[in-house]
Amino acid sequence: MSSVTVRVPAKVNLQLSVGPVRPDGFHELATIFQAVGLFDEVVARTPAVPGITLTLSGEGEGELPLDERNLAYRAAVLLAEHTGAEPSVDLHIHKAIPIAGGMAGGSADAAAALLACDTLWRQSTPREELTALATELGSDVPFALHGGTAIGTGRGENLTPVLSRGSFHWVFAVADQGLSTPAVYAECDRLRGGRTVPDPYVSDMLMQAVRAGDALLLGKALHNDLQPAALSLRPVLRQVLEVGEDLGALGGVVSGSGPTCAFVARDDEHALDIAVALTASGVCRTVRRASGPVAGARVTG
Ligand code: C5P
Repeated sequence: MSSVTVRVPAKVNLQLSVGPVRPDGFHELATIFQAVGLFDEVVARTPAVPGITLTLSGEGEGELPLDERNLAYRAAVLLAEHTGAEPSVDLHIHKAIPIAGGMAGGSADAAAALLACDTLWRQSTPREELTALATELGSDVPFALHGGTAIGTGRGENLTPVLSRGSFHWVFAVADQGLSTPAVYAECDRLRGGRTVPDPYVSDMLMQAVRAGDALLLGKALHNDLQPAALSLRPVLRQVLEVGEDLGALGGVVSGSGPTCAFVARDDEHALDIAVALTASGVCRTVRRASGPVAGARVTG
């Protein structure tokens, strides 16, 4: 085997409930993740010269670091350390997930790199061990391996699958510039101003919407505790959300730590109408459509 291709999805948080800060500096979360059909592809090849190299095309080309600062690179190093395999791979990421957008694109690449290297190096690492390595890399990395719809607790890494009916149709408004996840959490703390924060919870209404495949109810139930912080750091997002809702979206929310805004549509045609109108409104850099849930990271070639 000289080449392995892994396809990995973006995520949206249908609900993101942010609890108190823990002693380790992370926030205790209760979130409902959904994997959506917007994919990065990671190709792992046996290199001519031993060592790890990383190249990238698509979103973020020429902007993202291609060394240890890149989570996909770190995933390859971590897997080699864990398995004892020789750390030798040429990784190429073809990126379609918006960068620093709250859709976990960096985490997706790390999950894909773990799976691609594990396959290329013929390690067959058990799923639980891959998930533990994913957790070491970042809070959202285990979900990128897992996919589907899942409740995330702890810092987001403890996953419980949720049975969901049918498919939801999403429109994503992608901003010009990313937002830093730590900065958004810090702004959330600042806005809370030292008040006592209740424990995070999973919304019953949201679970009901997901189980029933009820897009109307989902639209009403979307909620993100990081949204006020993202709006505070990027006030134009208020306008983006208003435009989406004026266009008839069933609901809109900032995705994760933002700045991407996610809108639920009734069906594919409705999603296309919203996407076209959002593009024409000029409030965002670009617009993407996708449906979810979809599977997590998978070897495709
Ligand atoms: O785990 P990850 O590296 O993706 O987290 C990035 C940053 O987001 C953390 O350094 C922290 O500032 C913030 N974070 C948090 N609580 C979480 C997840 C992330 O405060 N549950």
